Amino acid sequence: MIIISEQSHNLHCDIYMVKMAAMVEMLVVLSVLVLMPIVGVAADWGSSSNFKCPKAFWIFGDSLTDTGNSQASFPTASRLYPPYGMSYTFRDKPGFNRYSDGRLIVDFVAQAFDHPFYGTYAHALNGANYLRGANFAYAGADANATAFLTPFHLNIQVDDFLNFKSKALDTGFYFPDPKGPYQPVLNAFIDGAYFIPEIGGNDLAVATNALNLPAPVVIAAFVPAAAAAVKTAITTLHDSGARLFFVGNTPPQGCNPAQLTLFDNRPKDSLNCVDDINSINRAYGTALRQVVDQLRTSFSGDGTQIYYIDNYNASIEIYTNPGTYGFTNTQQACCGSGGPYNYNSAFTCGNVVSCCPGQSACATPGSYVAWDGIHYTQAFYRQLAKFFLNGQFVSPALNLTAECHLDFTDFYKVK
Ligand SMILES: *[C@@H]1O[C@H](CO)[C@@H](O)[C@H](O)[C@H]1NC(C)=O
Ligand SMILES: *[C@@H]1O[C@H](CO)[C@@H](O)[C@H](O)[C@H]1NC(C)=O
Ligand SMILES: *[C@@H]1O[C@H](CO)[C@@H](O)[C@H](O)[C@H]1NC(C)=O
Repeated sequence: MIIISEQSHNLHCDIYMVKMAAMVEMLVVLSVLVLMPIVGVAADWGSSSNFKCPKAFWIFGDSLTDTGNSQASFPTASRLYPPYGMSYTFRDKPGFNRYSDGRLIVDFVAQAFDHPFYGTYAHALNGANYLRGANFAYAGADANATAFLTPFHLNIQVDDFLNFKSKALDTGFYFPDPKGPYQPVLNAFIDGAYFIPEIGGNDLAVATNALNLPAPVVIAAFVPAAAAAVKTAITTLHDSGARLFFVGNTPPQGCNPAQLTLFDNRPKDSLNCVDDINSINRAYGTALRQVVDQLRTSFSGDGTQIYYIDNYNASIEIYTNPGTYGFTNTQQACCGSGGPYNYNSAFTCGNVVSCCPGQSACATPGSYVAWDGIHYTQAFYRQLAKFFLNGQFVSPALNLTAECHLDFTDFYKVK
């Protein structure tokens, strides 16, 4: 996902400023969640009988997954203001670090596993404990090695992880444990899940929204580049010892208020989403699935398990049957400043530059899919997390809730 906001203009790098200014109009992007869990085990990735529950989650992605890295690195440019964070009070963090009204998929995963919220890599100096994993995701990140919105594309995040791992194994510094640092640290990596809930949404949205490229061009060039980058990331992590991966595709970005606003004149599908934009997300899903199949073959026999999370179809299920999941509004942003889809790129959610559009949200974010026009509400993320953990839209079959005795009690709490 992309972060687009007035504050984005403050980023330090000139080249990004120019590009970001061009993108303020576009913000669109849902993201691709790639989740990669690693669990060292089973020789057969297709069987859950040998499945070993992950002890930690090492997380990569973009603004659908970033819980504070971009804000830590760009304190002014990436700062989010109310009503961001309005629906959930984070006890361990200020609460405005997420591009939503509350929790993201990774936060629900933490709660289900009874882990603390995963610490952000960029906050390492704050004394976080990373025994249960860490989050390397950056808002604005591309999968491909491009830096339209932020330099921290996927494979930079993987580099950060390798650096972090090597320092952790040398010192045990971020893994306090009374029984001694080395074994707990090592186990957190060996028995960890390498999780990419979603990435690629920015690659695609930059192409369509900022560069104004038509769908066939995006499908021919940006889709394979993004999928190839995910392949490189998984391969690098695998070569460093990772064995359990969860990798997600992108939700249908043509259903986002930002895309619906920008491409209002284009043909819509049966869900009133921008048809050719969703076709790009479908093509990316197909490419990502092929990558996953190739990697399973390459790694077969060494215990690697790679699970594909189909966020696209999971989202389509919600858009198709919103009432089943408690949603009443699938087309308008909860937080925006008017227009048919409650999205106006000049006054986005959390706007503080000029008074006052974008400073208020709908009264019931829990019944909205879209939060700010680009990103989703915590209610939507909660449902995607439930699908994932319950083994829906996941292949091969894996029911983490049953396998790992997960508990969703905290999912509906407000702090
Ligand atoms: C992907 O990244 C590479 C390396 O930066 C770049 O040369 C290439 O143009 C990018 N591809 C796309 C489609 O942006
Ligand atoms: C959605 O589900 C259909 C049917 O299982 C599948 O063929 C398609 O590849 C899925 N889409 C994506 C983007 O993975
Ligand atoms: C996964 O397991 C949980 C707990 O046993 C169960 O409630 C849920 O229905 C299962 N999911 C599916 C898709 O069968």
